[in-house]
Amino acid sequence: MSRWKAPKLISVAALLVAATAPISVNVTAHRAHAAPAQPHAAPARPQATGPVNPGFDTGDLTGWTVTEGTAFGPTAVTTTDTYWGGPFHHRGSHHLWGYAAAGDDATGTLRSSSFTAPTRMSFLVGGGWDPERLYVALVRDSDGRALLRQTGPEDEAYVRIVWDTSAWRGQAVHLEVVDRKTGGWGHLNLDDVRTGDAAVRDDNGLTFRTLGQANQPTATRDYAADPLRPQFHYTPYQGWINDPNGVIQWRGRHHLFSQYYPDAPKWGPMHWAHAEGPDAVHWRDLPVALTPPPRATPTDNSGIFSGSAVDDDGTLTVAYTKFTDTGAHPGATPETVAVATSTDGVVFAPGTEVITEAPPGSSAGFRDPKLFRDPVDGRWKMVVGSGDGGRGKVQLYASDDLRTWSYAGVLTEGDGTTGAMWECPDLFELDGKWVLLYSTNEGGRSLQRYAVGTYDGARFSAERHGVLDGGGDVYAAQSYRDDAGRRVMTAWMSDWNAKEPTRVGGWAGAQSLHRELFLTADGRLGQRPLAAADSLADGRTIRVTDRTVDGSWRLGRGDTARIRAVLDLGGTTADTVTLRLKASAAEATVLRYEKSTGTLTLDTSAAGYGTRATYTTHVEPRADATLALDIFVDRSSVEVFTGDGAALTARVYPRYRESDAVEFTATGGHLRLKSASLTPLGSAVLPD
Ligand code: FRU
Repeated sequence: MSRWKAPKLISVAALLVAATAPISVNVTAHRAHAAPAQPHAAPARPQATGPVNPGFDTGDLTGWTVTEGTAFGPTAVTTTDTYWGGPFHHRGSHHLWGYAAAGDDATGTLRSSSFTAPTRMSFLVGGGWDPERLYVALVRDSDGRALLRQTGPEDEAYVRIVWDTSAWRGQAVHLEVVDRKTGGWGHLNLDDVRTGDAAVRDDNGLTFRTLGQANQPTATRDYAADPLRPQFHYTPYQGWINDPNGVIQWRGRHHLFSQYYPDAPKWGPMHWAHAEGPDAVHWRDLPVALTPPPRATPTDNSGIFSGSAVDDDGTLTVAYTKFTDTGAHPGATPETVAVATSTDGVVFAPGTEVITEAPPGSSAGFRDPKLFRDPVDGRWKMVVGSGDGGRGKVQLYASDDLRTWSYAGVLTEGDGTTGAMWECPDLFELDGKWVLLYSTNEGGRSLQRYAVGTYDGARFSAERHGVLDGGGDVYAAQSYRDDAGRRVMTAWMSDWNAKEPTRVGGWAGAQSLHRELFLTADGRLGQRPLAAADSLADGRTIRVTDRTVDGSWRLGRGDTARIRAVLDLGGTTADTVTLRLKASAAEATVLRYEKSTGTLTLDTSAAGYGTRATYTTHVEPRADATLALDIFVDRSSVEVFTGDGAALTARVYPRYRESDAVEFTATGGHLRLKSASLTPLGSAVLPD
């Protein structure tokens, strides 16, 4: 997977020698955090194996020279360890926080001392994403050429970048930290520059994953090359995706569109990316289906917002929100509904606006039309997300031809406790009831909610409310009825508050597995993986039956794997059963079941980069006192399905290559497993 050979361990003796060698400041300065200040920053013929003061742990810019501007004044070297979004995760006492000296608007450049290029380097980078204006560069002294560059993750928290510098080995080089960006995220953070073996092997003996733009394949869609790239989830090859749109099975093939910005791994003028496949599991990229109007100004974010698809007598027909950025177009109507069609399922004719004004009481927004054929009166209906006066709501429209729409009033609205604007509503019949899906923001937390109730062709009455997924990373869910009559749903496997460390590789966002929805015996909205997900199996399944676990037991290893287990709760004396996923000595995504309370917790607080959180749901054992778990682990996600239809989904981004173990632990007694299995999973990417 990685091009690195197993690095040699650095012996203590070697470290001691290095510690006393006058010009070898790299490894020792980092490890001891007591680098002697080097009086000569840039010797004429550099012999140092790394920059002086590689982690800023002298507490100042010793060894570094401000070559331009004010962005990297001495006060950029800081001990500050948290920011508004959590810990920086820097190393040692200090780090270079590009914001600290002069904020976002200051620009400038900072140069390291010169050193001899090693075969590999690594460093921690944080701050804004902008490969042209914000980056760390490896620069050759002789001609000033930038050999490698790396921009930030658009987050303060650090991500480790690994560089293969072997092509320039032995040449005199230096690092340059460049900030030419003003405004939001106009700063870059740097810490813990490492060279040689220490660049790839951490002090704990584990191997850093090889991340960063220098490691992204450019010519081929080699998804396997990126250690954080999901292998069996839909992701954009480059750029950003959010909500799934237009999900449908059309002429037998499953179509998946996504909110998409191709030019950067962050939200921007929205396009609709398009993929299709035979089974709602494997996907082939198609050309971008819908593109936004040309930008009036660089900050014009007008675009094609979320929407849905239906088959209109053989024509693939989509309705979407036409978003016009009123900052760039003063006086324009920000959100209208447009319809576009395709006869071949690939090329779409330009859309036509069909609803040009929001209905009354839509002050919070009016977007995300979802079309359906209403069995109550046989007409086309459309639900649209909205809100007013602190209450989210859903607007309803009716039509006979998908072009002329009449407003049919408020389908339903919240009581003020479930968000002020309901995004991405979806209304459908399921197992004799009606289900409403909607996405909200509640006190800074994004939530995918649902309600189960009745619908009379005009109004929805909720009988029960719930949160669709107990994990943190399911938002903007959208469903369709497939040709087999199943209700299939997928969601953006992230949300608006999530960290996206994959940005350092130029992409962000993934769609969840497609899942089948059903109503549970006690009336909840349940989810289960599609039967077709079995076809992802790629390799030998490890299977055990009737096993007693005392303490800890490793089922196997798997970076992309399906793990199934049936816990025999009757025979289990432990009160806590833990399943460590993506685990190594230093990190793990932890799934914990507490027998006494019936709670299932997914804990990402030591999972690696990314959001650190604890997600909890309640699970009901089966009547025979067993608990079934069905878990899909991909390179940067975990989706847990329980036998009673609950799901917990989280994106997780391990730091280390070794973080792939699957281990059970029983605490306070033993665990009885009726069965457990681990199946390696392969890629869901079909050739274009
Ligand atoms: C939901 C959402 C939608 C909107 C889209 C824009 O995540 O905010 O309401 O249409 O994303 O990308």
